Amino acid sequence: MDRRKFIKNSCTACLSAVVVTGLLSSCTATRYTSGTLGKDGLTIDANEFIQKGKQGYRSFIIIRNESLQYPICVYRFSVNNYSALWMRCTHQGTELQASGDRLHCPAHGSEFDNKGAVKTGPADKMLRGFPVTVSNNQIFIDLKAI
Ligand code: FES
Repeated sequence: MDRRKFIKNSCTACLSAVVVTGLLSSCTATRYTSGTLGKDGLTIDANEFIQKGKQGYRSFIIIRNESLQYPICVYRFSVNNYSALWMRCTHQGTELQASGDRLHCPAHGSEFDNKGAVKTGPADKMLRGFPVTVSNNQIFIDLKAI
């Protein structure tokens, strides 16, 4: 094999490995739960964040409950620190999509961080967030304000 072919084949193999590795790392399945709806809010088990078969925790899970008009994305920062964000874009109300530590709007491209702050417009208001309390490994999301 001549030098030029060798370099071309080597680069192709390296790029393929990089692409496959990137795809695999971004294929972590999103966890959905319906939670348990009570009079004042929703409860989910903190163990929902444990990644089975892997070490560590999911950074977020999504609560989809038929009683709610939009899902709620719950981000985990530590054992007792979570945010719960209404997945409704503050621009024109499109349902957001979660990816890593960001929420994206498929309608016009707004982006929010995992605390609900606007990172990219046209949205100019924070996402609605709900108070979260943790007790006995249960995460309670207070929905009284809905
Ligand atoms: S509705 Fe989300 S950016 Fe317009």
